[in-house]
Amino acid sequence: MSLTVASIESDKKAALSALLNAGNLDDLKMARLAHVGDKSPLAKANQALGSLPGSERAEFGKVIGAARAEVNSAYGEREEFLIGERDSKILAAERVDVSLPTKRGSVGGLHPLTILTNEISDLFVGLGYTVAEGPELESGWLNFDALNIPADHPARTMQDTFFVEPLDSGLVMRTHTSPVQIRTMLDRKPPIYVICPGRTYRADELDATHTPVFNQVEGLVIDKGITMAHLKGTLDFFAAKMFGPDVTTRIRPSFFPFTEPSAEVDFFYRGRWVEWGGCGMVNPKVLQACGVDTDEYSGFAFGMGLERTLMVRHGIADMHDIVEGDIRFSQAFGTGTR
Ligand code: FA5
Ligand code: MG
Repeated sequence: MSLTVASIESDKKAALSALLNAGNLDDLKMARLAHVGDKSPLAKANQALGSLPGSERAEFGKVIGAARAEVNSAYGEREEFLIGERDSKILAAERVDVSLPTKRGSVGGLHPLTILTNEISDLFVGLGYTVAEGPELESGWLNFDALNIPADHPARTMQDTFFVEPLDSGLVMRTHTSPVQIRTMLDRKPPIYVICPGRTYRADELDATHTPVFNQVEGLVIDKGITMAHLKGTLDFFAAKMFGPDVTTRIRPSFFPFTEPSAEVDFFYRGRWVEWGGCGMVNPKVLQACGVDTDEYSGFAFGMGLERTLMVRHGIADMHDIVEGDIRFSQAFGTGTR
């Protein structure tokens, strides 16, 4: 191999131009193999130095060394440039605009009535009550007889009660949560402080303030020395927590076979009085039938409508909105999309 300064110069130029023309890292790899690696002309020229006489060896050694250094540094610069270019292409391609609106998935949520039920339970648990439950398909005996509702009471007729076939099964869809009072008294010894929210059924037409399937919350307290004043105080507390201090409520005398005396609680809503619930001192007949010693104990009970509670709290004009299951209604309470 004959070495000349011109051939070294031309190898160097070829190398520099190949490196500069490499448009991506793959091209650069090919250019490196051809012009920078062990098999490149400049590497071979370097190997050929060994066969030169001493004086020429030093002279060509310098020229080749300088050419290889220049090519190496050109390679380094080009590699750095191409890596930078590739990375910014990747960054641009994978760019995410975090300010774009996302696709909103629908999620489940609690119905406003369930939220209210939980809130009321929490409220009374905070007063030391426990939550009691009973079945929606209830024995007629617990729904009526044990509550001192006689066989000829109008509430038992076909108009009010959903009876269950076969009719002699003795079962009804409970018309109120009051049978849970009986279940509780048969089950536990006083003192008793329970709250019982639950679904109830009546053959009522769906209108602005009635629905055939609705919810009540029953309260029952049996203890020594319980009076009507405790009932009134509890109801005032309940109403204030539910509706705030501005609500107008009234209590008026009424009749329930299982309480004596009995009263109904109304609130003033959208220009008229709407009944919120019934209440009274538990009838001693009922206490005795449940084995409670009436010389020692007395108690009060109440049963409020939850749909109506929700209506006043949230300015709902029509009960249809609560029961018809239009998701837009629940969404106003934060249920639905997230
Ligand atoms: C009762 O059901 C008694 N068990 C309440 C009670 C409990 C009295 C404990 C004494 C002691 P009443 O039938 O009035 O009472 O119903 C109570 C409340 O349930 C009503 O004031 C009303 O808020 C609600 N309610 C009754 N029927 C419906 C209906 N069809 N739709 C929506 N709410 C109703
Ligand atoms: Mg009533």
